[in-house]
Amino acid sequence: MEDISRSFDPRRHRVLVVDDDVDVLQGLCLTLRGAGYPLLAVQSLPEAVTALRREPFQLVLTDLYLGNNDLGVHIADFAREQRPAPPVIVLTGRPTFDGAQEALRNHVADMVVKPVAASQLLATCRRVIQEAELARRNSELESANRVLTSVLPRTIEMKDPTTSGHASRVVGYTDSLAKRCGVSDEDCSSLRLAALLHDIGKIGVPDHILQKPGPLTADEFEVVKRHPAMGYEVLAELTEHANVRTWVYQHHERWDGNGYPNRLKGEEVALPGRILVLAEVYDALVEERSYKPAWPLAKVIALFREQAGRQFDPDLAHLVADGLERSGNRFFAASPDSLF
Ligand SMILES: [Fe+2]
Repeated sequence: MEDISRSFDPRRHRVLVVDDDVDVLQGLCLTLRGAGYPLLAVQSLPEAVTALRREPFQLVLTDLYLGNNDLGVHIADFAREQRPAPPVIVLTGRPTFDGAQEALRNHVADMVVKPVAASQLLATCRRVIQEAELARRNSELESANRVLTSVLPRTIEMKDPTTSGHASRVVGYTDSLAKRCGVSDEDCSSLRLAALLHDIGKIGVPDHILQKPGPLTADEFEVVKRHPAMGYEVLAELTEHANVRTWVYQHHERWDGNGYPNRLKGEEVALPGRILVLAEVYDALVEERSYKPAWPLAKVIALFREQAGRQFDPDLAHLVADGLERSGNRFFAASPDSLF
């Protein structure tokens, strides 16, 4: 495949620029034209919609507030109707959590906080266009799984660098456990995707909370607790993988019904989902994190025994504790790289 980053030429990417403030619009156009992008500048949502339906664009750059109570994020709805659909970058002077959620829901490619340096804006435009092009090429090759298994986990890790490698290790642990428990091949495949993407909703959690070095306040924890539901939303397009979404949604539930978001109990979470719950915790325990050292195996085993029937499916928890006692870390010996 052609290397998109090397062959990137702004002149091949037409940009639709939308801002109701003439001065800002002119500034944006100056920056983009200076970098070589051909563009069309408009000042309202209706004009943007008309332009999108009339001619192809490779990128839409829009202000969040467009006057008349119109929101730039809604341009994304119309952009998605186009083939190929241009990605949408939203500029905002007032970043809020609600705004980020709305942007996620509307499939906005990125949000840029104003004021922004020209170089940063251009870098974002280039990155967003390249990401969109990469995604399109992959879908043309019917390799949606490749996008899911490489781009998205990296995105999660960029948001939350303290958990580097977490998702791919959890894939290995879940797969190894699922095979031992007789989970069907089809469910194993869905479970691998769910394990890889289980924390994708963290992209909707603000950095100052996600990367906070100290303990979270109760309010901050409430925000973090929304990430399974946000993950469920982010994966809405995975219509052929309903189980993946379900298990992502349930990965913080507990056997005793004291988990979140829905306080599901016991077998209300299907076996693959319960495996993911346990594997995710196992990795968090045995790896060093910014807030704690790696736990020794004996302590991990003791926790699984203590939490059997509380946090974890009791049969699973004892199976893992027995296995770890018998074989140590080799109990989870599957290689994540060979699973796709
Ligand atoms: Fe999580």
